[in-house]
Amino acid sequence: MEDSALSRLIVISNRVQVPRSDDEGAQGGLAVALFAALRQQKGIWFGWSGDTSDSRELRFEVNSDVTTATIDLSEQDVEEYYNGYANRTLWPLFHYRLDIAEHERDFQGGYRRVNQNFADTIKSHIQSDDLIWVHDYHLIPLGDILRSKGIQNKIGFFLHIPWPPKRLLTALPEHRELVETLFAYDVVGFQTEEWLDSFRDYVANHLDATIEGDEIRVGGRTIRAIACPIGIDTKDFVEARSHKDAITAYSRMVESSIGRDLIVGVDRLDYSKGLQERFTGYERFLSKHPERAAKVYLLQIAPPTREAVQSYRDIRMALNAQSGLINGTHADIDWVPIRYVNRGMSRSMLGGIYRAARIGLVTPLRDGMNLVAKEYVAAQDPDDPGVLILSQFAGAAEQLKEALLVNPYSADDIAEAIENALRMPREERIERWKSMFDCIKSQDVNWWLKKFINEMKKF
Ligand code: G6P
Repeated sequence: MEDSALSRLIVISNRVQVPRSDDEGAQGGLAVALFAALRQQKGIWFGWSGDTSDSRELRFEVNSDVTTATIDLSEQDVEEYYNGYANRTLWPLFHYRLDIAEHERDFQGGYRRVNQNFADTIKSHIQSDDLIWVHDYHLIPLGDILRSKGIQNKIGFFLHIPWPPKRLLTALPEHRELVETLFAYDVVGFQTEEWLDSFRDYVANHLDATIEGDEIRVGGRTIRAIACPIGIDTKDFVEARSHKDAITAYSRMVESSIGRDLIVGVDRLDYSKGLQERFTGYERFLSKHPERAAKVYLLQIAPPTREAVQSYRDIRMALNAQSGLINGTHADIDWVPIRYVNRGMSRSMLGGIYRAARIGLVTPLRDGMNLVAKEYVAAQDPDDPGVLILSQFAGAAEQLKEALLVNPYSADDIAEAIENALRMPREERIERWKSMFDCIKSQDVNWWLKKFINEMKKF
């Protein structure tokens, strides 16, 4: 990061996870990646504190060399911006769930208001040579608002979730206005070539864009639009294998497995993660292979999120019922097929659990990237690695081609992949693992950070 160290980095995202050196927090993928990024660059991480109040005070904190600056949101802001436009309009739409996307003018107004507040609050803390990096679907118009306030710095935007095909996006009443604001940035980054293609397709058709290589011109502004897949802190994750929590979790798993193969899934409890389809696929495996059934079990870790949103409450209820039904139907006096855990774990613990698992089952219906897939690979024993079963619709599938790729909608596909993974000889497991590990090692979070910042500097 030598050349980027000259400019401060201002990261702006909805959620700011105050870094904790004891690694006890169960941090989301974005938070982990940004923390790793900010440890290397001086600067500020700005965003929502996660608290609700009417205070507009900006609070600074320094932790592990990372300065965070956070503000509270009012109840109305949380309802209209976070629960509303971000998670009831954009999230479902961008994950191809047109059927549950809601379109309310109040949500749109709240989204605009919070983006405006973010811009007003951060503006006076921006120095002339700072690089500004805005993250994710919560803050798409922020760059445009900052420009309207006279900010001329380099500003980049990175979308962590998929970009939907143009036909889907046009279901958003204000699709054109929203996409036009992206042209205030200098660089716009996507996780995969597929999402980038969808973006290019949209702007060519709806904004009359001129496209030359990475450069896209609309109405007198030129941006660079690139695919830049996010990575994990692979080195750190590998080293965390020797953390005491990782060792304890590994031993607990081995002891409680009593000779059975562990299949693990770790996901936020979100409908995009394909948990119902996964359980159905696993049950199909149990029914098709009764001789193997009692020799495996599935540990599904699924911490609930966004519970103020009805669709999240619905999926939680549905999974409670489904896991109960599968266990009731298939369990024996000394075996349950699914251990279903609704709470988060620290990264170290997860490292130990991943390492103990013969199979990592990562089958989202649609996912921008999916860092669990990469963490599972990083945690494996190189001499006896487990097998990653990965959805073809996760962004990570563009990179992790040696995983067993499945269609997450097909119960038979999932069942067959589980069977193939359990039968896979050690040499093949090692071969597949090696090529995936090489990828996550070379394209780790530092590579991602450097690639994106260098793109910003090209202008
Ligand atoms: C996804 C999004 C992130 C978000 C995370 C957790 O990974 O891309 O922006 O922070 O989910 O969701 P939450 O709503 O709890 O912040």
